[in-house]
Amino acid sequence: MEKKLIIAVDGYSSCGKSSFAKLIAEELDYLFIDSGAMYRAVTLFALRNGFIENNTVKRDEVVKSLSSIQINFKFNPDQQIYETFLNNENVEEEIRQFEVSDYVSPVSQIKEVREKMVELQREIGVFKGIVMDGRDIGTVVFPDADIKIFMTASPEIRAKRRYDELIAKGIDVDYEKINLNISSRDKADSEREISPLKKADDAIVLDNSNMTIQEQMIWFRKLIEKMGNEN
Ligand code: DC
Repeated sequence: MEKKLIIAVDGYSSCGKSSFAKLIAEELDYLFIDSGAMYRAVTLFALRNGFIENNTVKRDEVVKSLSSIQINFKFNPDQQIYETFLNNENVEEEIRQFEVSDYVSPVSQIKEVREKMVELQREIGVFKGIVMDGRDIGTVVFPDADIKIFMTASPEIRAKRRYDELIAKGIDVDYEKINLNISSRDKADSEREISPLKKADDAIVLDNSNMTIQEQMIWFRKLIEKMGNEN
């Protein structure tokens, strides 16, 4: 495919959006951006600076500190991935921790946080040739994206995948805790006032409950082929 595209991959928590989006980017030699990592980095900053206390996010403190939060991505050639940097510190590992997952939904509901992240995401997308995954990429960040994919899978399968992934990394986790975190984030992300998680009207649904990642790539290649034939 000659023309460089913007590909938006949205969907529920722990659907495998990032793994899928990353493979698409590799195949097309595009840039892959995990927009969730940006909201996670802001959440980590808030946790480290005491802006989250007694289960409550201090909204005003987060908003006030936004000008001192810098987020960018740098390519790690050994791992062949883009890693997330918060004020020049590599936080790729730390932003995946439970504590961050627990508070990322309330932090991502803050209007000013979203405005700053969306601005950054659009700047990154300006040269096209990008696959970005998140919750509002096809609806808000790039409403004119060339391809919009909305991913879903059954909640039990998503929790099981996340559990297996963490166990494989040697992290001791409780399945029920993961299940709860996934369902509460689905609810918070779908019901929030600003840019809620929802399928864009022109997005194509991919339910990968019973698909391997290879099968998902076959599905994607067919989609690209079909688009090529139609244009
Ligand atoms: O993709 P993820 O699970 O790492 O995202 C973490 C959280 O960030 C998710 O629960 C909601 C928020 N998020 C968002 O609001 N908008 C995005 N485009 C991406 C993530």
